[in-house]
Amino acid sequence: MSSQAPPPLRLRPTMLSDLDFVLALEADQRNRPFITPWERTQHEGAVRFPDIRHFIVEAGADGSRDGFVILQGCRNPHKSVELKRAVLQSKGQGLGRQCVRMLKRMAFRDLHAHRFWLDVKQLDTRALSLYASEGFVEEGRLRESVRISTDLAEGYDSLVVMSLLDREYQARQALGLELLP
Ligand SMILES: CC(C)(COP(=O)(O)OP(=O)(O)OC[C@H]1O[C@@H](n2cnc3c(N)ncnc32)[C@H](O)[C@@H]1OP(=O)(O)O)[C@@H](O)C(=O)NCCC(=O)NCCS
Repeated sequence: MSSQAPPPLRLRPTMLSDLDFVLALEADQRNRPFITPWERTQHEGAVRFPDIRHFIVEAGADGSRDGFVILQGCRNPHKSVELKRAVLQSKGQGLGRQCVRMLKRMAFRDLHAHRFWLDVKQLDTRALSLYASEGFVEEGRLRESVRISTDLAEGYDSLVVMSLLDREYQARQALGLELLP
């Protein structure tokens, strides 16, 4: 659990020269169970494709890279923007919460989203708890929709679909729940 204020974060567009870092984070055993890693070519496409925004998360005074995030549907005609992926190296220090708030602000203020949504594996209790405490509402579960393969178990996990609507975000803002350092 985070006890003190996390260092300020910055989001900057991912460059092709960042992709080794991105792929290494996806391969990291601390992240691997919670995501479906992409090939390098998928990340290259995402960096270039205007519907997607691919960002490096920089933390701390030295601006070192701590993670990456991907937004999809940035030009969606229904104004439904997806938080496709968020992976941070430093866990449990409050960076995830700060990052999610920055992404909500980007989705609703800059991209004029009506709905900001995501899916998260049921086994990813940390991410589930973060998103729920940041106002995302569960829409439903895609039962046993992703294969799970570890040294210990083979099987399926369900995906929890969650979303936040623009009016819900505005209500949180009015209550002072969307503050950033
Ligand atoms: C999910 C992730 C982005 C969250 O970032 P983080 O910096 O670790 O999260 P925070 O420190 O901001 O914690 C946020 C909240 O999660 C909850 N939490 C933290 N650790 C937890 C754990 N081990 N189990 C359950 N909940 C936990 C707490 O509610 C915490 O809030 P609080 O400490 O203020 O009460 C990060 O852990 C990560 O990269 N995980 C691997 C990849 C992943 O799962 N990505 C999400 C799906 S794409």
